[in-house]
Amino acid sequence: MKILILTSVVFFSFISADDHQLPLVSTTISPNTEFVIFGTRHGNRNPETFLNGIDRSWGQEGSLELTSVGKRQSYGLGLELRKFIGNLTTNNFNTSEVKYYSSSANRCQMTLQVAIARIHPPESWNDWNTQRFDDWSPIPYTISDPILRMYSVKSCKKSDEVWAPIDNDDIPELENLKNDNSQVLQYLSQETGWNMTANLGKAADLADNLIQMDFYNTSYPIWLTQPKINGYNESELKKTIMEFAEIHPRSCAYYYPCRYLMGGFWLDDIINKLNDAESSKNALKVIGYASHTEVTLSVMKLMGIEREEVTTSAGFVIEFRRRPNAAIRILNHDPNPIDTHVIYPSNLTKELSDVQESDGFIRLADFIRIVRPESYADWPKQCDAPSCALDNPNGDFSSSASFSSNLFILIASIVLANIIN
Ligand SMILES: *[C@@H]1O[C@H](CO)[C@@H](O)[C@H](O)[C@H]1NC(C)=O
Ligand SMILES: *[C@@H]1O[C@H](CO)[C@@H](O)[C@H](O)[C@H]1NC(C)=O
Ligand SMILES: *[C@@H]1O[C@H](CO)[C@@H](O)[C@H](O)[C@H]1NC(C)=O
Ligand SMILES: *[C@@H]1O[C@H](CO)[C@@H](O)[C@H](O)[C@H]1NC(C)=O
Ligand SMILES: *[C@@H]1O[C@H](CO)[C@@H](O)[C@H](O)[C@H]1NC(C)=O
Ligand SMILES: *[C@@H]1O[C@H](CO)[C@@H](O)[C@H](O)[C@H]1NC(C)=O
Repeated sequence: MKILILTSVVFFSFISADDHQLPLVSTTISPNTEFVIFGTRHGNRNPETFLNGIDRSWGQEGSLELTSVGKRQSYGLGLELRKFIGNLTTNNFNTSEVKYYSSSANRCQMTLQVAIARIHPPESWNDWNTQRFDDWSPIPYTISDPILRMYSVKSCKKSDEVWAPIDNDDIPELENLKNDNSQVLQYLSQETGWNMTANLGKAADLADNLIQMDFYNTSYPIWLTQPKINGYNESELKKTIMEFAEIHPRSCAYYYPCRYLMGGFWLDDIINKLNDAESSKNALKVIGYASHTEVTLSVMKLMGIEREEVTTSAGFVIEFRRRPNAAIRILNHDPNPIDTHVIYPSNLTKELSDVQESDGFIRLADFIRIVRPESYADWPKQCDAPSCALDNPNGDFSSSASFSSNLFILIASIVLANIIN
């Protein structure tokens, strides 16, 4: 069962967006662009577990919830997106022209709410309480976990299967990472009280705590500033810890079966929306999605973006044009690092960059030919879920199956009892 093929070259180097130089100025929208799609990871959130023994001023929102930094990042995203789309759609929310989707997670919904509130500040007929909320109006969105959070769709049995080796660090790359860093992991386990050799997810939690400590100016504990471990000073130790940030979600996106299951249905939705835009099936101008690392990074890799991580509130933007030919341009967006956001061209796989025109656009037909095989439309089939899961993704079909088989046994034994009697 251990024939797992990982397809990334730089498997475990956590390159934060601050490391690769972000452009300071965003790409401007092409004059021919008629339709824009954006996808984003949620903004900064709290760690799953809080580190003990630090003087912490943050974290009141609770484990994994969006923080004030996360809200600011999301606002920065909305601000930059509005600058980018310009007058493609009105400031006022127009239900025929824009549509938004979120995973069910609080942090994703809140990220989307903040970003789209900034994209659609109400004006004129849409004003409703200018004294208190001059620039804010509620904006609706759709929750879809099959598109944006397949890992938590209950009926998706296959999801547990593809995640198990990652969750258990049971793939060669994670085992090697553990072995190569065993001394550090032991030291950190001892200092934090979290057993990191039992699960690298705990090392990821520690990295998440450091991210928050940096954002909220929390003093580091002495075991980090003055490490009692050979060959490590503060910056080396911190660098090593940061390599574990989002280690499991990133590993999912590197491991094809997980990447495909997490991102393939979202990619199908994107392809359908681009096809609809080409055939003018509707008046849609902007579509946005908010999701998680494993799903956002997976869909970006499936659509040919060369990228090994997505920091909080980072993601992609797709422009679609019909003239002079039906084509798309694929861009990244990143926070830098909180209030400022930047939109810029993605690095693409060779197959895609080979068919890119000089302005960065790729014919829609080429794009679909190349990435269609990375998508799927029938999610219950891919998930090994019954087709009725379509209407109730979180239904517990295993228990209804055992209910009906229990019923069968009951009836059979009554019949049998009658025969015997
Ligand atoms: C794109 O690739 C270049 C060259 O390898 C690299 O320097 C740059 O950091 C990459 N940019 C992104 C956004 O990945
Ligand atoms: C939208 O803005 C562009 C650039 O500023 C301008 O050329 C165009 O006429 C505007 N379109 C509408 C419908 O206002
Ligand atoms: C909303 O969008 C539709 C489709 O583009 C358009 O016909 C309509 O005029 C817009 N409504 C407003 C109030 O701008
Ligand atoms: C940590 O977990 C590993 C593997 O489950 C176990 O062998 C080890 O004894 C644990 N260490 C501590 C200090 O509990
Ligand atoms: C942390 O310190 C920096 C630099 O002094 C400051 O700009 C920033 O606002 C502080 N962060 C918070 C959350 O207070
Ligand atoms: C920490 O160690 C690294 C590698 O040995 C070294 O390059 C760096 O200068 C050291 N930093 C400090 C602050 O001593």
